[in-house]
Amino acid sequence: MITFEKTLSKQEMDTLVVGIFQQTQLLEGVLKDINEQLDGYLSALLKSGDISTKLKKLTSVYTLGKLPVKRLLFVGLGKKQEWKREKAQEAFAKVFQSIQEERKEEVAFLLDSFVNDHVPSTEVSYIAGETYALSTYKVKDYKNKSNVPEKELKAIVLISKEDHSDLDDAFQTGLVYGKGTNSARTLVNMPSNLLTATELARYASQLAEKYDFELEILEKETMQELGMGGILAVNQGSVEPPKMIVLKYKGKKEWENAIGLVGKGITYDSGGYSIKPKNGLMNMKTDMAGAAAVLGAMEIIGELEPEQNVVAVIPATDNMISGSAMTPDTVITTMSGKTVEILNTDAEGRLALADAIYYAKQHKATSIIDVATLTGGVVVALGTHTTGAMTNNEALFEQILEASAQTGEQVWRLPIFEKDRDRVRNSQMADLNNSPGREGHAIMAGAFLEAFTDGTPWVHLDIAGTATVNSNGLLGPKGATGVMTRTLALFVEQYEG
Ligand code: BES
Ligand code: MN
Ligand code: ZN
Repeated sequence: MITFEKTLSKQEMDTLVVGIFQQTQLLEGVLKDINEQLDGYLSALLKSGDISTKLKKLTSVYTLGKLPVKRLLFVGLGKKQEWKREKAQEAFAKVFQSIQEERKEEVAFLLDSFVNDHVPSTEVSYIAGETYALSTYKVKDYKNKSNVPEKELKAIVLISKEDHSDLDDAFQTGLVYGKGTNSARTLVNMPSNLLTATELARYASQLAEKYDFELEILEKETMQELGMGGILAVNQGSVEPPKMIVLKYKGKKEWENAIGLVGKGITYDSGGYSIKPKNGLMNMKTDMAGAAAVLGAMEIIGELEPEQNVVAVIPATDNMISGSAMTPDTVITTMSGKTVEILNTDAEGRLALADAIYYAKQHKATSIIDVATLTGGVVVALGTHTTGAMTNNEALFEQILEASAQTGEQVWRLPIFEKDRDRVRNSQMADLNNSPGREGHAIMAGAFLEAFTDGTPWVHLDIAGTATVNSNGLLGPKGATGVMTRTLALFVEQYEG
């Protein structure tokens, strides 16, 4: 699908995309040749402002048979010295979305026109691959008259004088990251009646099959034997059986220094007896976005095979109401032995995650990252562009922050102080309570989870605000974002433990 050329080939092409910085002079390279073949017409159009250099602005110039390409599609890149990764993503997204709308089957890029000192050609190639996947993603719907089958792009040609095998590697890696993110999006967008815990487990087992991961799926009976009172309490009101999904990727000779990736897999969150108001019930099919991010990251890991050990643990169940559902005033015993007084059945994620974190430790995870749509509180605190983080280990957090800076998935830390821990421990009946009240409740959730890490280095990522968007954007449509898929995978690739 992706091919490379050193220069504009003789063979007829439909569209050649050219990045154009402010004050570009057509003095050298392919563009100079093209300009000459067009009798200096390009430099005239640039001078008169008819070809816009404003970031993301598109200008079509038809070549009327004078070149082996029908059309030049210029995309404005703004000031060359301000060119960076995020802008490149947006510019490429704009181009891919426009090409998709036009139902083109092939497109060529003059890759070297997108390069400056901060963004080398390999990076541009990576961004092209990643952005192609992200920006053209479509949400699968269930309409009888379904979205007209999009014509897929059959060929992308990258024209560059740089080493083609490096560019190819970069493009393919970008594509893997983009596709893994899209897989996560698809899981999150799926209706909750179709994506049950059983289906999520089936999906994970297919992933295990494809990438040769070790697979373990704990059924309810085994959870009972193991004393997983957290996830079982959440599942108590449901007719759907719970699943504890475990995937192991072994990238080292010995099973040591394993990274634990734990993802909240609540396939639907009604709130339970502490039922949500009717607006709050909307979109609660997305309460498994943490699980989806972990599975998306595992797909990327399976493709790229980094030299790391990774164990993914996903507690999967819905949170429903019935005569057998847990109620406030219940006291449960988690797998760790710690008891919890239930004050709010809508604070269910932390109960399921408590067992999953403990179980990841039993699988010898020595660092744990959990990802969860855990609290409305984090949305109030940080909004919808920034994932909230909490940690018990500075060095591990730095590694997550570093990866997130590279992927552009913003992360900001919230504190856990001793007085926060006191509030979580404040129960007359049990070791912990699951809901100390609305003040700082994103932090309360973090402090609760921390109690189950027992000192194992851990970072908690609360994606309640970032897992979905409510309008179409350049890097993806309305609905699931697949947030943290890329950050988790990159973190794993770069992990130093
Ligand atoms: N799944 C929700 C959190 C959530 C809210 C996700 C909005 C996505 C969007 C979680 O289980 C929940 O209900 N949290 C409660 C916690 C409270 C009971 C302490 C909340 O945020 O209100
Ligand atoms: Mn809830
Ligand atoms: Zn929830």
